[in-house]
Amino acid sequence: MGTFISICEVGPRDGFQIEPEFIPTELKVEVIDRLSATGLPKIEVTSFVHPKAVPQLRDAEEVMAKITRRPGTVYAALVPNDKGAMRALAAGVDQIHTVLSASESHNLANVNMTIEESLTKLEAVARLAHEAGIPLYSGISTSFGCPFEGPVPLGRLEYIVARLVDMGATGIGLADTTGMANPAQVRRTLEYLLPRFPGVTWSLHTHNTRAMAIPNILAAIDCGVRHFDASIGGLGGCPFAPGATGNVCTEDLVHCLHAMGYETGIDLDRLIETAQRVEQILGRTLPGQVMKAGKWDRRYPLPERVAARLAAAAP
Ligand code: COA
Ligand code: ZN
Repeated sequence: MGTFISICEVGPRDGFQIEPEFIPTELKVEVIDRLSATGLPKIEVTSFVHPKAVPQLRDAEEVMAKITRRPGTVYAALVPNDKGAMRALAAGVDQIHTVLSASESHNLANVNMTIEESLTKLEAVARLAHEAGIPLYSGISTSFGCPFEGPVPLGRLEYIVARLVDMGATGIGLADTTGMANPAQVRRTLEYLLPRFPGVTWSLHTHNTRAMAIPNILAAIDCGVRHFDASIGGLGGCPFAPGATGNVCTEDLVHCLHAMGYETGIDLDRLIETAQRVEQILGRTLPGQVMKAGKWDRRYPLPERVAARLAAAAP
């Protein structure tokens, strides 16, 4: 048995949120149900945010109500504040994912709050999750750098993690919102943080903006991280972070992990079919590469000339 790596599919949230044309609710539901049928252990279904901030996800309640809940898949949603948490709980989410940024300017751009204001709101979210008896996973955007401010000091990241852990977050997600992280930095950051917060379930949220997402994930696996966000077809991006493009592509990541001998519990062929269906729904080519190239074990017929030479050379 290879080591198990747990993937959280964020395409329906991080992916869809940046799509300018409204995707009909039925199609969102279809994609989520196809994703769960691949065996994905967790899906971030939607966001309970202000409908004016992210109009694409204004149908969050309806999506939650219409999906088919597959046993074995955890259905989570993103919330920025207590109002979002109340909506998410009423809609029946299994887990709450919170969002705040490690940089003041991105937090203000994204959720219109200072980091301290966000932390106060998230304390209220933590109480609601606790009363409802559901786990809280807290994501930290721009953990590896901010498109406005540049580098984020490790000490600030440590302070934010400490506050989130104090409120009872089970998991901490370090998010590279605009693809600024590199594998050496990921390693440095994790080697600093992991020993300081034993008992936390760590996850990494990567964007492939600068083609470093999979290298960053492999570095994090070496450091002991086992949970990763990924987005079908490589959809994704934050509407409030200039230059943000797609998340690490789920089927490309699963393909890489399986080729290396890791286990994910995911049916890769069904995942690739789902990515193709999402391309069809959105009407454009997505960044995912394995759906175009085929899997690593794809073989091509030998050119006749080569076959003849091989036959002639055979002993
Ligand atoms: N869902 C729906 N409505 C919400 C809400 C939520 N989670 N949070 C606040 N509101 C409503 C309030 O009820 C209030 O309504 P009213 O004007 O009818 O009284 C209104 O929004 C303003 O509330 P306020 O707390 O001042 O919010 P804001 O305007 O400062 O916006 C956020 C703050 C967090 C709600 C908004 O910036 C947001 O939704 N951001 C999400 C960004 C995002 O999803 N980014 C991508 C993911 S990384
Ligand atoms: Zn993201």
